[in-house]
Amino acid sequence: MWGGRFAEGPSAVMRAINASIPFDKQMWRQDIAGSKAHVAMLGAQGIVSADDAAAIAAGLDAVAADYAANGVPDDLALEDIHMLTEARLADAIGPAAGRLHTARSRNDQVATDFRLWVRDAIDEVMAALTALRRALQDSAEEHADSVMPGFTHLQSAQPVTLGHHLMAYDAMIARDLSRFADARARMNSCPLGAAALAGTSFPIDRHTTAAALGFDGPTTNSLDSVSDRDFAIEYLTCATQCALHLSRLAEEFVLWASQPFGFVALSDQWSTGSSIMPQKRNPDAAELVRGHSGRILGCLTALMVTMKGLPLAYSKDMQDDKPPVFEAHGLLALSIAAMTGMVESATFRTERMRAVAESGYATATDLADWLVREAGLPFREAHHVTGRAVKRAEELGIGLDAVPIEDLTAIDPRIDARVYGVLTVDASVASRTSFGGTAPANVRAAIAAARGEMV
Ligand code: ARG
Repeated sequence: MWGGRFAEGPSAVMRAINASIPFDKQMWRQDIAGSKAHVAMLGAQGIVSADDAAAIAAGLDAVAADYAANGVPDDLALEDIHMLTEARLADAIGPAAGRLHTARSRNDQVATDFRLWVRDAIDEVMAALTALRRALQDSAEEHADSVMPGFTHLQSAQPVTLGHHLMAYDAMIARDLSRFADARARMNSCPLGAAALAGTSFPIDRHTTAAALGFDGPTTNSLDSVSDRDFAIEYLTCATQCALHLSRLAEEFVLWASQPFGFVALSDQWSTGSSIMPQKRNPDAAELVRGHSGRILGCLTALMVTMKGLPLAYSKDMQDDKPPVFEAHGLLALSIAAMTGMVESATFRTERMRAVAESGYATATDLADWLVREAGLPFREAHHVTGRAVKRAEELGIGLDAVPIEDLTAIDPRIDARVYGVLTVDASVASRTSFGGTAPANVRAAIAAARGEMV
């Protein structure tokens, strides 16, 4: 492509280090779309003849059909998807192909292709996250009344409902969706026409190409247009944050599927066996979602470090922007699909959850609150009295709600039998009606609100 100035070809190693075709061929659809928008504009503006513009557009369709049917070859000599496509176009239509690259550079071309690719990736992720939210909401609805132990420090703290716990993840995924939506809106400007770095002397119409490619408009500064990779970094920050959420949910599945917890049975489809221990059902998919989150964070780090010291405008380092984004996207898409499948097919062992909730003195706070409300104690004193009641229950080896009234009144005479009304786990969760609380009625309202905001 630059034979005019060069007497010798590149060395084999130069060719190998320089080529991006092995990975950027993933952007062939975006490259064809960008070129078609560009050549249509060149024709409309009279920069190339109508005949040449039509021949180029038809030729691009033929190249695209060939890629779709036969795949994109790893031709290192042609370096990247942009040069490969131009070469294929020349094979198809002859010298007119050489007019396609008028008034553009690979710098604005790759910036445009990559934005289109990331935008498609965001759309795919948002659809997948929406499906995950529906799975969480459906399961939460089924378990709006299912009592489980709520933890702090992984110690039994207060009873909650499983529906409430699942809706906590729905809230996280809702934030992820809004972050992806923000990133999409911010990146939806078109760099095409910035050319190499300075703009062009041809009478192009950047607004037309931007609109043709579904952008809100053209980017404003030609230097920034070709050197900006914020959109890719932002995709990766959103992906990382989302992966962290998925990792936490995955970790809960791993814990819950363990024998000491026994809170969930993963379906056969989402478990693996052991080659040596026949009894095993391992939560490999959940473990890999947890593991993938680390790799996604690594991709974000890689791209940030690539970009941090680059002067304006384009530097070839920026070719390294794509592998981490492609890798992270693949990992994230798999992780979301796997978590959705696990949530949809999990069998929650609600009897076991309830039994554990009942065994950990999880209603101690309810006793303390009752002492405040009904007996007028200051909370600190109520806390102390309750501590003694828990101690007594421990001595007797029974739950708080089974401690005889004589034992309770011996600790504090202001306690009376009405207290048993608040000591069961069901009474405890039903009483948590403050906005955002775990009461089943609140969980149902939260599910309805979440569904309403999604339609
Ligand atoms: N393959 C290159 C990349 O991905 C395309 C841009 C090349 N631009 C250049 N000035 N050499 O960054």
